[in-house]
Amino acid sequence: MRITDTSDLWWKTAVVYCLDVETFMDWNDDGVGDFEGLAHRMDYLNELGITCLWLMPFYPSPGRDDGYDVSEYYGIDERLGNFGDFVEMIRMARDRGIRVIIDLVVNHTSDEHPWFVQSRSSRDNPYRDYYVWRDTPPRGKQDVVFPDVEDSVWELDETTGQYYLHHFYSFQPDLNVTNPKVRDEVAKIMGFWLELGVSGFRVDAVPFLIDPTGVEHAEGALEDPLDFLKSLRAFLGRRSGDAIMLGEANLPHREQVRYFGGRDADGLTMQFDFIAMQNLYLSLARGDARPLTKALRGRPRIAVEAQWANFVRNHDELTLDKLSDEERQEVFAAFGPEPQQQVYGRGIVRRLPGMLGGDPRRIRMVYSLMFSLPGTPVLFYGEEIGMGEDTRVHDRTSVRTPMQWTNGPNGGFSNADPGALAAAIPDDGFSPAHVNASEQRHDPDSLLHFMKLLIHRYRASAELGWGELEILRQGSASVLVHTVSGGEGRMLALHNLAGDPVTTSFVLPDSGPDDVLVDLLVDGRTLTPGEGGKLSIPLDGYGYRWFRVLPTGSKRLG
Ligand code: GLC
Repeated sequence: MRITDTSDLWWKTAVVYCLDVETFMDWNDDGVGDFEGLAHRMDYLNELGITCLWLMPFYPSPGRDDGYDVSEYYGIDERLGNFGDFVEMIRMARDRGIRVIIDLVVNHTSDEHPWFVQSRSSRDNPYRDYYVWRDTPPRGKQDVVFPDVEDSVWELDETTGQYYLHHFYSFQPDLNVTNPKVRDEVAKIMGFWLELGVSGFRVDAVPFLIDPTGVEHAEGALEDPLDFLKSLRAFLGRRSGDAIMLGEANLPHREQVRYFGGRDADGLTMQFDFIAMQNLYLSLARGDARPLTKALRGRPRIAVEAQWANFVRNHDELTLDKLSDEERQEVFAAFGPEPQQQVYGRGIVRRLPGMLGGDPRRIRMVYSLMFSLPGTPVLFYGEEIGMGEDTRVHDRTSVRTPMQWTNGPNGGFSNADPGALAAAIPDDGFSPAHVNASEQRHDPDSLLHFMKLLIHRYRASAELGWGELEILRQGSASVLVHTVSGGEGRMLALHNLAGDPVTTSFVLPDSGPDDVLVDLLVDGRTLTPGEGGKLSIPLDGYGYRWFRVLPTGSKRLG
């Protein structure tokens, strides 16, 4: 039996589901989601078909950046549960074949973390060098991540009269990873959670983590900052052979290749493809597949032991920072024209269904497209049922509302008083009365059912995780026709990004005279290519089709 191209590297064909325990399911009715609630929803997640849970930060935290300001790495926010609940949840997930990865936020800590409290107390404190201190901020402008809120990445600390580095908010001082003690601390944190059963980490803010600002000439500064990342990967490999590092690195593709560790693949295991994601929105705004096509064509070849993570939305603003100013304005105009829908001059604080005016055809087309791209798909909780954002909130928290389970009070998330909820529930056309998991579970025409179908088709099509992309030439600018081929076989997908129906004609390369194409999403009917692989396939407005390409004699299920 050949073992590659199937599940040898589990994450190459995983379906990742990101959630925040705080807003997923509240079991003790205090208004805050908890691990027990999540455990009770494990069967829902299993039924959906996801294979990997990514938990957003659940550590003790002052909660000024939704938990990305960690004040204790070896703890659990007590509102969410305790270690017993955590381990029980991991066991339940594993029992259903679901792995759990967790957010590793080590570019910075909260300013309430005991290390920082020590560090800022005096210049000769043993923890002083855990952070980056300077007498004067370096000259030249350093880009701040949150331009609406911060005007510098350096903050004066009165007690000791020096400035500390904070790429993000000023309450998130950056750790000094040139300090070998800090590097050891990071490894120890990873080792700790691995022992508790996690299968890896979503590594937060990677470019900032390894950015040498302020420590260029420090003792212990690495010649190549990527070596730090590689040392963490090596440590991970020693402790747990199949654990992963899924990196958040919103960078041009060519730089991402370096973060993967190039041909050696000894850096990040997976990285989100922010470039394809941003160009997807430009394509949607224009009803023109070409920006996305260009982004996908520009994806560099990566080692077989590396992987792209495909996503449509995440828990942050929809960042459009890699588009040109004009392109960004086009996307703003199409999907977030109101100033209160935009943040930091670069992003939109909405979920996909709101941006697409709730049009079910268009929403389905986008997810069909995402699942058909080579790589590993990542969903943000609530996407499977088409949740909207809280339009009364004008920052990135608008998309972090509680999961909508039923059409009952608080959307079935909690029996607490609405005022006590971790976040308010949308009250518009996307409220639980209109969008909830319970009703969709019983409705075969629901988005939830469609998502299940996509997930199951994806999981049965290993070439999508392992294979090579080819974008086929055809005449319609609004259409993307692509194949993904790997050892398992070949998939053909068609997507129409515009609202008008179109018939697209193209040649399926390398097709034999008796090849059969089996429809995988609509009706299971078959098609046979004409001479030389010629095909002509009609698509509805926002239409989408997936076909399994079965050569003569193939034993694969269609
Ligand atoms: C990442 C997270 C974001 C957080 C930031 C700082 O970008 O996705 O939510 O604010 O890191 O930790």
